[in-house]
Amino acid sequence: MSCFSSADESAHYGFSVCMLLQHYRQQLNWAEEGVVELGTGDATAIADVVAGLPELRVRSFDISAPSVARARENIAARGVADRYTVELGDFFDGADSAGAPAVSTVIANPPYIPAPDRDILMPELWGGVYGNDLVLQLLKSGYRNVVVAVPSYSDPAGTVATAGDLGYRVANFLAMGLDYGPYSSEPKVREHIRAICAGGRGWAGDDEYMVAVALFTQDPDIPGDRSTQLLRALQLQV
Ligand SMILES: C[S@@+](CC[C@H](N)C(=O)[O-])C[C@H]1O[C@@H](n2cnc3c(N)ncnc32)[C@H](O)[C@@H]1O
Repeated sequence: MSCFSSADESAHYGFSVCMLLQHYRQQLNWAEEGVVELGTGDATAIADVVAGLPELRVRSFDISAPSVARARENIAARGVADRYTVELGDFFDGADSAGAPAVSTVIANPPYIPAPDRDILMPELWGGVYGNDLVLQLLKSGYRNVVVAVPSYSDPAGTVATAGDLGYRVANFLAMGLDYGPYSSEPKVREHIRAICAGGRGWAGDDEYMVAVALFTQDPDIPGDRSTQLLRALQLQV
């Protein structure tokens, strides 16, 4: 087992989470409640966010032991161990195992690599056949607000449709073009992404794709729905 490493993607995730948390500070109520996180990775992105937002507390989970070890070192080095905690284990067994979630907001750059099976470079990054299994599971977990990375090649329209069925709207998002990293470039994965896009369930170039970090919300105090704009932003045409 290894630790997820993709500097640009993690930076995009951290920056976007920071922007969305600050913009929707009152409604998300994170200064009171804190937030939970699925998938810590090496923790650098969110450790910097925690360092920059002194009232933020994050309870994070990762199934990869090397990631948790690396994360704890990085969190300690940034001096935020009292407000950014990491637990080894499946988020769905840990964070909301007691029934209704204790906090209203979950953040995640979840595993989203689409592949026919889990036998890929880092199996912990497998997101199911269309890549969006864990996002869908998160949306069904009862959180009022889900701040999550949505990649263009992992059936984003299916994700947005399921979110709508569950009463979520897309409040806002930040989108960025990314080059394929080692996980998307694996030949088996690359071929599978091509097939998904050819089948109309995603968009990607030969070496690039889009990732949006979106706030899905059920909160009536957050107005509007940018679902259409989100899908347009992900439609990379090459
Ligand atoms: C794409 S990485 C993101 C890491 C980090 N948040 C970042 O953006 O740099 C996804 C992480 O989720 C972890 N993971 C996968 N399934 C999980 C689960 N069910 N519960 C908790 N963590 C999980 C993986 O081990 C991996 O570290």
